[in-house]
Amino acid sequence: MKKIHVPVLLQETIDSLNINPEGFYIDCTLGDGGHSFEIFKKLSPNGLLISIDQDQHAIDFVKEYYKDEIKENWVIEKSNFAKISEIASKHARKPDGIIMDLGISSRQLEESYDRGFSYLEENEPLDMRMDEELGVKAKDLLVVLPEKELTKLFTIYGEEKFARKIASEIKKRITHINTVGDLTRLVYRVVPAAHQSSKNPSRRVFQALRIAVNDELNSLKQGLDNSFEILNINGRISVITFHSLEDRIVKDYFNNLVDSGKGVLLYENVIAPTDNEIRENPRSASAKLRTIVKIK
Ligand SMILES: C[S@@+](CC[C@H](N)C(=O)[O-])C[C@H]1O[C@@H](n2cnc3c(N)ncnc32)[C@H](O)[C@@H]1O
Repeated sequence: MKKIHVPVLLQETIDSLNINPEGFYIDCTLGDGGHSFEIFKKLSPNGLLISIDQDQHAIDFVKEYYKDEIKENWVIEKSNFAKISEIASKHARKPDGIIMDLGISSRQLEESYDRGFSYLEENEPLDMRMDEELGVKAKDLLVVLPEKELTKLFTIYGEEKFARKIASEIKKRITHINTVGDLTRLVYRVVPAAHQSSKNPSRRVFQALRIAVNDELNSLKQGLDNSFEILNINGRISVITFHSLEDRIVKDYFNNLVDSGKGVLLYENVIAPTDNEIRENPRSASAKLRTIVKIK
């Protein structure tokens, strides 16, 4: 098995944590392990790293890929990061740094185990569950949600201008929509050609469905709240976001901590990838890194 995901803002994220070799760190979004391994390399045997991912395939990949490197002080657990307090409470110390590199990994897009995360994988079913123990798949949402709710979902989570037309067409043709290709062809038909830029017109609908299936924004809010609660004084939380919905949540959450005197921002402005990083890894283009330091 080879690595697929290229870690985004890697050096910047590691720098933001100001790693103490004896410290305790939690990577909430293991993925292919890029950020985790870089943290782990900086730890002494007294340091501790816990890496979390809700996707069993990510856990299996990292455990195999890093099998010669993983020691007792690198603990890997399948969970939703919303439950970070439960996971951390098994250890008699408070974390000094927590990172979240949000969204989906390149592995999930390119080797999805038939979950249809990518609008390019025409023959895959509309599933989109990162955690396959979750009950509701993307296709279930298309079936169960009334047209009005589907419109809202595409508008709010996808910021899709043609949400109403797409939702209406989906409901009319629901028995014919089973695969990624069925949905992308429908979107191509519904979105006027003049609005189809060089980017795939289905990308917003796919983003919206993925956010809903995985309840991503609520997990993020809970994950941030619980992370700050368990963090050591002077500890740091660094979050990389990829779209405006998640970035707004992080920005507002951090600003509230600053206003209430509990935290300070490490950077006045967000940290974004360099032109060079974007050239080498176009998926990094929309990334934004924000870091808060807990002072109270
Ligand atoms: C962008 S990737 C992380 C890539 C990783 N930093 C690396 O360098 O390889 C995001 C990962 O977070 C996981 N994930 C997303 N939301 C999660 C959540 N609420 N709880 C746990 N894992 C989550 C996804 O399954 C995915 O593997």
